[in-house]
Amino acid sequence: MDGQRLIHDLERVLFTQEQIAHRVTQLARILTRRFGTLRPVLVCVLKGACFFYVDLCRSMDCAIDMDFISVSSYGLSARSTGVVRLNRDLDQPITGRHVILVEDIIDSGRTLEYLKALFAARKPASVTTVALLEKQGCHSARSAADLYGFPIGGEFVVGYGLDYANQYRNLPYLAVLKPERYTSGAADSTQERNPQHET
Ligand code: PRP
Repeated sequence: MDGQRLIHDLERVLFTQEQIAHRVTQLARILTRRFGTLRPVLVCVLKGACFFYVDLCRSMDCAIDMDFISVSSYGLSARSTGVVRLNRDLDQPITGRHVILVEDIIDSGRTLEYLKALFAARKPASVTTVALLEKQGCHSARSAADLYGFPIGGEFVVGYGLDYANQYRNLPYLAVLKPERYTSGAADSTQERNPQHET
């Protein structure tokens, strides 16, 4: 799919590159103030958080460790199985460490709850969760992020790491996908849907 087609699929830009950069810098300052002397481990939840994670790490003005984890709960079906699967674990132990878990979006909160339980069992010094987007009214307070970039409503958001059917991740901004793009069966049926961003 060419770039023009990608843009044609979008309803509107939700947050520009400049707005994202500004907010990421603010979040990095808060985290640097809290953890600057503690050498935290920043954990990227693949794949959606990839750009947010990299920009956040680069904006932190302190020593950090970087690590990556991959989980999924949606498989190839249109609805969550309700079971989060661990695809790739961390490389390093986090016992006694201050962990900052970096997500792109909190929707049902199921992924975050799973990861918090997984990490708690490893006895870290602390776990702080930061998400770029938090969908309002879709999850319990227990599975809300400690820090988040922007609240959103029911829009289907793509770009800056977020996908629909594995497309649109490389858009440099966050945009709302046209409903007909994900309701008409337009996606390549061999690709995974990403319905957790639907309402
Ligand atoms: C998305 C997103 C979060 C999770 C949020 O991941 O990146 O990890 O879903 O949904 P929840 O709050 O309802 O659990 P996805 O499984 O689509 O994988 P991806 O990041 O590789 O796109």
